[in-house]
Amino acid sequence: MKKQIAALILALMPAFTFAAGGHGVELDKVDIDLTDKAALQDGLRTFANYCMGCHSAQYQRYERVATDLGIPEEVMMENVVFNDAKFGDHMQIGMRPDDAKNWFGAAPPDLTLVARVRGNDWLYSYLRAFYEDPTRPYGVNNRVFPNVGMPHVLAPLQGRQVVGCKQVQVVENGRRQFDPLTGTPITHEACDQLTVMPGTGSQTEAEYDETVKNLVTFLAYSANPVKLQSQRIGTYVLLFLAVFFVFAYLLKREYWKDVH
Ligand code: HEC
Repeated sequence: MKKQIAALILALMPAFTFAAGGHGVELDKVDIDLTDKAALQDGLRTFANYCMGCHSAQYQRYERVATDLGIPEEVMMENVVFNDAKFGDHMQIGMRPDDAKNWFGAAPPDLTLVARVRGNDWLYSYLRAFYEDPTRPYGVNNRVFPNVGMPHVLAPLQGRQVVGCKQVQVVENGRRQFDPLTGTPITHEACDQLTVMPGTGSQTEAEYDETVKNLVTFLAYSANPVKLQSQRIGTYVLLFLAVFFVFAYLLKREYWKDVH
């Protein structure tokens, strides 16, 4: 019985960590589409280029990812596999956890399942919430994960984000407010806001949001690769039921013809 209770608590853990993960910060919502191959491929590219220096995805094989995302073997080996790993290998990295702990104060966790533990909204918000803070070892801090040991590796894309004042749209009862006459958004100046310093990143804010969204899409797929498959199977099941219904109905009509 004790074991079962422990198992139950473990099973519920992700929900708790997720709930506690935001540290009271409101998370931005992200709407991802796991069937969008272009988004998944873009996310994989970002992951391989910017994350796999420190994080592994060791429950996932290159081959499986290439197959699921429709990427030919040569393209995968050339653009995604940077170490001497083979096509059938797990997505591991060379960095030793002990070294990493010395360098960053915390070992970068494996990210295969992180989307399940933290949730998509958390990841989307976290990767957009780094801001300059000279008191931290890497000069950055994070709104969603305060005092995180990870540097802002996507800064060349996003640019330098600082805490400052900016015009934000007024929201009442969860609804964005617009001027009833002109239809323009009603704004007010709010401070303590994260703002990107113009011209410091290679992407616009919208492009950066898209990059992060695609990265989260890839991480969500990685945490649950069979989801793609079950969605496909689900469609076939529904189609089958639709066709089956027609035949069942015709058969029923045939039988009842003689009864009436
Ligand atoms: C230079 C090394 C490094 C790189 C590159 C890096 N990270 Fe990290 N990351 C870390 C470290 C170290 C931690 C642990 C931070 C801590 O616990 O304080 C971490 C933590 C995280 C976490 C929080 C995990 C958790 O649940 O606690 C996420 C999510 C994450 N990284 C995602 C990414 C993504 C996505 C990328 C690529 C865009 C990336 N990281 C690139 C070093 C790195």
